[in-house]
Amino acid sequence: MGGIRTAQIPAPPTLDVKALPEFGAQVYGYDPTAPFDPAAFAELEELLYKHSLLVIRGVDLTPKQQYKLTKAFDATAEGSYGHGNNKTGSEKKSVLHPDLKTVPSQPQVQLIGNGVPTDPRITQGLDKPQLRHPHHKTFHKEVVSPEEEAQGITRFYRWHIDAALYDLLPPKVTTLYALSVPAGEEQTCRYDDGTGDELKVPLGTTAFVSGTKMFDILPPDLKSLAVRAKVRYAPHPYVWMAPAKSNSTGLGIVSDGKELSKDDLPAWESSKIKEFPMTWKNPKTGKLHYQVHPSGAEAIIVAPLPAGVDPSGQILPEGGIISDLKETRELLFKMQRPGIAPELVYPHDWKKDDLCIFHNRGVLHSVVGAFEPDQVRAFWQCNLASGEEPLPPTADDVKTYSSFA
Ligand SMILES: [Fe+2]
Repeated sequence: MGGIRTAQIPAPPTLDVKALPEFGAQVYGYDPTAPFDPAAFAELEELLYKHSLLVIRGVDLTPKQQYKLTKAFDATAEGSYGHGNNKTGSEKKSVLHPDLKTVPSQPQVQLIGNGVPTDPRITQGLDKPQLRHPHHKTFHKEVVSPEEEAQGITRFYRWHIDAALYDLLPPKVTTLYALSVPAGEEQTCRYDDGTGDELKVPLGTTAFVSGTKMFDILPPDLKSLAVRAKVRYAPHPYVWMAPAKSNSTGLGIVSDGKELSKDDLPAWESSKIKEFPMTWKNPKTGKLHYQVHPSGAEAIIVAPLPAGVDPSGQILPEGGIISDLKETRELLFKMQRPGIAPELVYPHDWKKDDLCIFHNRGVLHSVVGAFEPDQVRAFWQCNLASGEEPLPPTADDVKTYSSFA
């Protein structure tokens, strides 16, 4: 107990660490393979909610140990993987299906990566699993040319929260454990949204941004909207969005009307459709995190201003529903894009045996980059559907952030 130490995460020079003083920590002195110590774990949990992302290096984990660690963060999780344990039947049309291979002995743990790993420790009984690092050309509407790609130009694939967004509740925590990390040149992640923004990234990085920062930098009228709004997600959103394509930042879908019609989705029930607050309250720090999965969002429901708040300059002071898909996406992009500015993105430089633990209700993240088919990258990923809804802003939060006039 008390043996945990933290240090600054290995931040690249592009990261504005002054703007993100608490974001991310490298942790020493916590052994996730040791017998469970409630006091040490409580300390780790406190650190996670404070820093949003913890990195422990040089870890030698089994899938069971990874599952147990992940489960320790959520007593309400019943043990189903964040997207459910059975990705079968018509849900095979989901955009997530090809990226996940379930570890047979521990179905809440998924093997993800690139190439065909052969080390039995990695494959865990799977027969020559073909892994595929998600490539932006399979998801973005406009893509980087092969010539540019050869020069190391790449994109964020898809900014997201790990969550089914239908029926199941978002996991509190995701753990990502690096088993095999190919060495390679860094790449240039280009936004291609007219801003000229770009970011140097390590090959195959996972990029993280802070949901708190995304909220904190909103102008007052959008903060007021954010604390009053809920986002409604499409039923089976990953199937619904499968024919559609993303914008060039990976932060939301282009509105070309390509989404599947509700009649063509796997069977769904309106009682399982999810509406989540636009901001989620951190259970330990009380801060608000702007947590929206832009690709799955379908509508925005806004509550009226609290009684007595001056309506001048406010968006939808009386409340209302934004149900036009294009309008919904444009508003979300306007609110979220500042939060993925290059200086606010932490691209983790993966080393073999790194364990990243992230507050899935407090950050957005994205796969980045592209590998050659024979480059073997192997990770175990674990998160668990929660038994608890994300915490909404309190009445005090709504009052505070909506009273700006
Ligand atoms: Fe993810």
